[in-house]
Order: sequence, then C-alpha cells, then structure tokens
Amino acid sequence: MSLVNAFEWRYATKKYDTSRPLSEEQVEDLLRVVQLAPSSYGLQPYQFITVTDPAKLEQISRAASGQPQITTASRVLVVAVETNINEDTVKAYIDKAAIVRETDRQNLEAREQFVNAKLSGLSPAQKVEWAEKQAFLAVGILVSAAAEAGIDASPMEGFDRSQLDQILDLRAKNLQSALLFALGYRSADDEFARIPKVRKTKEELFTTV
Ligand SMILES: Cc1cc2nc3c(=O)[nH]c(=O)nc-3n(C[C@H](O)[C@H](O)[C@H](O)COP(=O)(O)O)c2cc1C
Repeated sequence: MSLVNAFEWRYATKKYDTSRPLSEEQVEDLLRVVQLAPSSYGLQPYQFITVTDPAKLEQISRAASGQPQITTASRVLVVAVETNINEDTVKAYIDKAAIVRETDRQNLEAREQFVNAKLSGLSPAQKVEWAEKQAFLAVGILVSAAAEAGIDASPMEGFDRSQLDQILDLRAKNLQSALLFALGYRSADDEFARIPKVRKTKEELFTTV
C-alpha cells in the first residue's frame, strides 16, 4: 500500500474489534519505528508506556471521558515527556554516543556544550513544551507506520492530564503525560470509518512565497 493510499484508508479509529489482537511482532515493529524516529539533538525526551493492566485501563478510560478506544484497543500507549531535562540528560546521551560511535568522549564535548547552552536558555515549562514537540513527531511517525502496515490507530489528547499522571504515578518518575495512543483493528460497526475526511484545500494548506 502506498503511503497516500494508507492515509486515505486510515482514520482516527473510535472503536476496535476486541476479537482481533495485534501480534507481538506487529507491535515490536511499530515500536522499533518509534525508537528510530528523529528528535532534536537526538535526545528523545519521552517514553512510550504500554498499559496492559485492566484495572489501570479502566481508570484511564474514565480519565479520558470513557472514550471507547481505551477499552477496545489491542494496545494502549501513554506517551509521556520528561520533566527534568538537564545537563545529566545531555551527559547520558553523549556518553552513549561515544560508545556507539566508538569515538573518544572528548570529540563530543563541543557538541555537549552546544546542546547544554541551547537547553539552559529554556525555562522548565519551555523544556516540557520542547519535549512534547519531539514526542508528537514520533507520534506522527507512528501514525504513518501503523497506516502503512494496515493497522488502525488513534492519537488522543482528550483526557485529564493530572488524573492520568496520577494513575501511572508519572510525576514521581519525572514524567508528564502528553498523549494517549491506541492500536488495533477497527470494529466493523465503527461508524467513524465511513465518515468522509474534512481537510483544508491544497490552496488553503500550501502556499509559496
Ligand atoms: C494530537 C491528536 C489528538 C487527538 N485527540 C483525539 C481524542 O481525544 N479523541 C478522538 O476521538 N479523536 C482525537 N483525535 C483525532 C482527530 O479528531 C482526527 O485525527 C481528525 O479529526 C481527522 O480525522 P481522521 O484522523 O479520522 O482523518 C486526535 C488527533 C490528534 C492528531
């Protein structure tokens, strides 16, 4: 399936077929794509948390106004961003880069200073905002990867963040929820599958200066 066809086919799935779970391999492939997604400075300041505990899913469903994706999807992910991005974050990345690229750490120190200088200019709230941008890029890529694989997906921001953070105890882990994400196969009676797409025209969306 071409990506254009895949995007004509996909839609924000509202109700999943609970009798058709995804295989471990399918999920692994999608998560590998998330792992390979680009991010600013390569820092990937986010986590994708798979929730399997039925009691937690029930609580999350309530925090998301009972949206049926949560209780019917094969997989539910919580996309969370780091709230304590600091010099240690950059140090951990540089340490790893030196090992992976088999280079002397000293060769990467100018880069470390550059990234630290950029990030130190941001307030804590701006850092979280920056982290959310990175997470949303990975989410966009996940939407594409799922569509290309013929897997249905639903990004969701319709939830109470403080409730979700509490359910998963995210604050204690220096994380904050940014998005919910469901994966699976659409239910045959999900009426949203048949609703025509509403999009800006090319003229509205694309301009040239
Ligand atoms: C970041 C983001 C958050 C969204 N949150 C929700 C949500 O909480 N509940 C929902 O039903 N749809 C949600 N959507 C789906 C959008 O409403 C949907 O993508 C848009 O209307 C276009 O329709 P389509 O994706 O079916 O083509 C969200 C989409 C995005 C990208």
